[in-house]
Amino acid sequence: MADESGLAVAKTEVVRLFPTFVWKTELKAEVYEPMNKTIKTKLCEATASLPALAPGEKWQTSQELHTLEEFSALTSYINASVKAIFDFLKITYESFFITGCWANISAKGVRHKTHTHPNNFLSGVYYVQVAKGANTITFEDPRPQTYIIAPAPTERSLENADSNIMSVKEGMLVVFPAWLPHSVDVNKSDQERISISFNVMFSSFGEKMSKPQWTGNVSVRPT
Ligand SMILES: [Fe+2]
Repeated sequence: MADESGLAVAKTEVVRLFPTFVWKTELKAEVYEPMNKTIKTKLCEATASLPALAPGEKWQTSQELHTLEEFSALTSYINASVKAIFDFLKITYESFFITGCWANISAKGVRHKTHTHPNNFLSGVYYVQVAKGANTITFEDPRPQTYIIAPAPTERSLENADSNIMSVKEGMLVVFPAWLPHSVDVNKSDQERISISFNVMFSSFGEKMSKPQWTGNVSVRPT
């Protein structure tokens, strides 16, 4: 911050409060190439009896892919990444699990409008096949107040952006809070876009984590 008051300012500081995190990791090619091949073979098998996708059409599979052998390497990768995220966040939990995991196969012309993944803590996407023109995910500012007064920026930056278009690539895992609005731009490539989406939640959220985290100062006992 520039000091334009004419007074001698001893110190200025910009405090970044309540940041929103998106975690990106990339597998090495020697790991993700065979893994993606196995995933694609399984998805080809599942869609073999269906007519080929026409432009503008998409498939979304059933949501138990994380229970299948062909997805076990990906499931391990997701679970390890989520553990690392919980360490990063320094949060207390007993256990977590993948509540749903499905494939999105999108032909040219398909987009996915802005949405969130309710009733989960984290969500994520792993990229199996993303050609140029299909290799982004867009995150929206989750603070609705910021849309009310939104002066045009002199230069677009992380500090003033109301959305962030993130480039993705094959072998990349992107994890984010399930409440963070996101969308997928139109597939402009000639190749089908294949991604695996998932949600993660604490295993016994209601039983173990929902009780008040504070103690009252008046005891009410049964008569
Ligand atoms: Fe999503």
